[in-house]
Amino acid sequence: MASTALPPTSLNPYQQTHEEKEQQYPVHYRGVKDLVDNGSRTLPQIYVKPPDERLVINSDQQQIPLIDLSELEGAGRSAKVEAIGRACRDWGFFLVKNHGVSESTMENEMRVGREFFHLPTEEKMRYFSTDHKSRMRYATSFNVKEDKTLNWRDFLRYSCKPLEEMVPLWPDKPTDFRKENSEYIRKIGDLASILLSAISESLGLPSEYINEVYGDYSQYMAYNFYPACPNPEQTLGLPGHSDPGGLTLLMQDDVGGLQVLHEDHWVVVRPVPNTLVINLGDQLQILSNDIYKSVEHRAVVNSNRERISVATAYGPSMSTLIAPAPQLVNSSSPAVYKGCVYGDFLDSLESGSLHKKSVLDCLKLDMS
Ligand code: OGA
Ligand code: NI
Repeated sequence: MASTALPPTSLNPYQQTHEEKEQQYPVHYRGVKDLVDNGSRTLPQIYVKPPDERLVINSDQQQIPLIDLSELEGAGRSAKVEAIGRACRDWGFFLVKNHGVSESTMENEMRVGREFFHLPTEEKMRYFSTDHKSRMRYATSFNVKEDKTLNWRDFLRYSCKPLEEMVPLWPDKPTDFRKENSEYIRKIGDLASILLSAISESLGLPSEYINEVYGDYSQYMAYNFYPACPNPEQTLGLPGHSDPGGLTLLMQDDVGGLQVLHEDHWVVVRPVPNTLVINLGDQLQILSNDIYKSVEHRAVVNSNRERISVATAYGPSMSTLIAPAPQLVNSSSPAVYKGCVYGDFLDSLESGSLHKKSVLDCLKLDMS
């Protein structure tokens, strides 16, 4: 994910035949949809999570804030910026409506993703790679080679930049995948930049501060596909994690499964039609010098219905040094983190498994 170069030839998914991949990879590398399609009616042991990871502490009482963006430009701006700031500080997560991405653009983006995961496994395996640096890959779990227990998730993950270079590498089936993705990516990228201006302002920084720091920003898309699961209470679609990047903009279908850790409770993020879920990643926690947090979240699965979500990870360019904004550092609030180049941050994270805040902790300055 961190790389701007294509993976080395030996790992380049485009240069391996189906047979080579079959021989090279264990059967569970083919994904959970494939497992279900082949008649598996029980949960294989490798998907069973240790009890402490599954522990259910749900709160149905609370909801993440819902912010209407229709008045963000104009007289209502300062109130909206304040609401966004409060949501960032209190939750690290919020929903937005009237966000400028049209209903049809959202629906089409969902549809082509769903159609992709319903293609025969052989078709999806054309894009399979275990190389987390690959700019376009289909895979399963999180890091299937390293994960101690597997996650009940298949995914398709790809870079959007530079667009002209990336589009020909995206799946050619379904036939309108590339067209619909190009449309969605433009719209969601515009929204990300608008939200980052508001977030800058909410921190008391110049409106374009974060966008300027991000420079030639990075944008990755990830479709997450969670088939109905035989024993959902024993596994997870995605275990608790924080997102490493800047801002994540997530579209989820009407099934539900996303949970956010808030005051030691897993709060359910109920699907609300035509909204997007926005959350702050590690690079905003660092830049805001811990004023805003990159909050842990996870995806649970269920036994009735498959679920799909589409995450956009919008962040700094890989070569950008991310450090606390100097305006937010002073003698009463000293810098909490040392700076780190975003690409290096991702390298340390992705060579391991998807886990908590270890990389962030390494960047902590000694405050004693
Ligand atoms: C992610 C993620 C949650 C979901 O893709 O990073 O947290 O509900 N997804 O799919
Ligand atoms: Ni996430």
